[in-house]
Amino acid sequence: MTVACTLMFLVFSAEPPSAERGYTSLTTRAFAPGQFPRTVVNEAWRRWGLNEKPVDFPARFRERYGLALAPYPNDNLPMGLRPSPMPFGTPGVCLDCMTCHGGSLMGQSIVGLGNTALDLQALFEELSGRFVDRVKPPYTMCNTRGTNEAGATSVYLSGFRDTSLNLTFTWRNLGLNDSMCEDVPAWWLLKRKKWMYATAEADSRSVRSIMQFMMHPLNGPGRFSEEETTFADIRAYILSVKSPPFPRDINKAMAERGSKVYETSCFKCHGGPGENSPYPGKVIPLETVGTDTTRYLGISQEFGNFYNSSWFSNESTDAANPGLKARRTGGYQAPPLDGIWATAPYLHNGSVPTLWHLLRSDKRPTRFTRSYNTDADAYDWEKVGWKTRDVDAETANRAEAHEKRKVYDTTLKGRGNSGHLFGDHLSDSEVLDLIEYLKTF
Ligand code: HEC
Ligand code: HEC
Repeated sequence: MTVACTLMFLVFSAEPPSAERGYTSLTTRAFAPGQFPRTVVNEAWRRWGLNEKPVDFPARFRERYGLALAPYPNDNLPMGLRPSPMPFGTPGVCLDCMTCHGGSLMGQSIVGLGNTALDLQALFEELSGRFVDRVKPPYTMCNTRGTNEAGATSVYLSGFRDTSLNLTFTWRNLGLNDSMCEDVPAWWLLKRKKWMYATAEADSRSVRSIMQFMMHPLNGPGRFSEEETTFADIRAYILSVKSPPFPRDINKAMAERGSKVYETSCFKCHGGPGENSPYPGKVIPLETVGTDTTRYLGISQEFGNFYNSSWFSNESTDAANPGLKARRTGGYQAPPLDGIWATAPYLHNGSVPTLWHLLRSDKRPTRFTRSYNTDADAYDWEKVGWKTRDVDAETANRAEAHEKRKVYDTTLKGRGNSGHLFGDHLSDSEVLDLIEYLKTF
């Protein structure tokens, strides 16, 4: 009787995760102490070498760091920054999930769209020092604007923790690699995946995996357990995010022809669009897909071992489950293509600016830049993706660091644009039909 009561209590006390609560937590709560003093953020123009505050300061701030307007009340900060006290209680600002997972399209901010304009390096270098104008982070946070080194951040911060997440004070190098140039995936894809991340190495049911973001040294082990239910809500919210429909007319006849091309050339790896279509979650070996290998090889076995013996993977969905362990796959996952029109640039490292370039590998630009605006003028409606401009090697090399990060140089480590030659055999008109069909995803 008592046992039955206790069991009943356990069953009813475990409230199911709520997407609504998840959204509220995401947009109102800070999960790290302040990383940037509020005064420095408010006067960032000083760090840009200006003598007075420009009248359009908020817009220039967003432009410089690649952040969008917050589509929710956010204390006059752009999406991706959030008020949070500094270690000794002075007002500060921290990053949140939307720094990387909040983007904009056609002038509209979208929670869950990868931020392909972000310059995380500039943000840290210019705004973390209270008394110095420039701080050199211990590893590179962004090599090329729009990509970031989220993986390196996990590896770096894990180096200060034991497997129960206690701080160790001496740092262990678990294979730090800061040239993986990661393009942030859209949150609406998670619901279709059994395994997440570009390499499909983490179980997509894992709540704790996405808590790696919280590894600020001042968050002790207790803080992680306390927030686990909040992150279950955040995950529920992520699962509820939907892809935006293509905002212009679609040529039905072309799309119809394109669907046949898709069926024969793409479906077996990518599956169909929408939750009612099959999605095989196929991992394609590095040598078959032929895309840049740095991201795959950049996460070491050592880090994998740490992760799999740590609190992060010791997560049980039921008593029989020993935890949600990460695995090695030897390749990249062919992602679902839902909302693919909205998530340019393409490939795991964002090295290909449009769908057309993805399908015409010999036409992919070697060094290119773009406005980093995300309005209708910056969008390439024909090739589907971002309009780019070629940059020659000399100009690229001469630029100072902030400008250099605006050049995507595919000859550099982690940024290769090779591989995925699966559209090359198609005729020009088949490619256009296929692109038209992909707009319906
Ligand atoms: C510094 C940028 C950054 C921040 C901040 C960040 N992420 Fe991510 N996130 C990434 C990148 C990059 C990836 C892709 C990693 C890869 O596959 O290489 C990713 C992947 C994910 C995925 C897996 C998506 C998929 O389809 O495979 C989830 C879920 C996720 N992040 C949730 C979160 C949550 C929740 C937060 C806040 C607690 C967060 N992220 C904070 C950069 C970031
Ligand atoms: C043999 C399996 C395979 C086939 C066939 C294939 N793909 Fe892919 N595709 C992949 C893999 C794997 C990736 C991820 C590669 C990476 O990011 O490095 C990918 C990536 C992509 C991306 C980029 C996704 C993103 O979010 O950046 C698009 C778009 C895409 N494929 C479209 C197509 C189309 C259209 C076809 C048909 C012509 C096709 N693919 C055929 C395996 C395949």
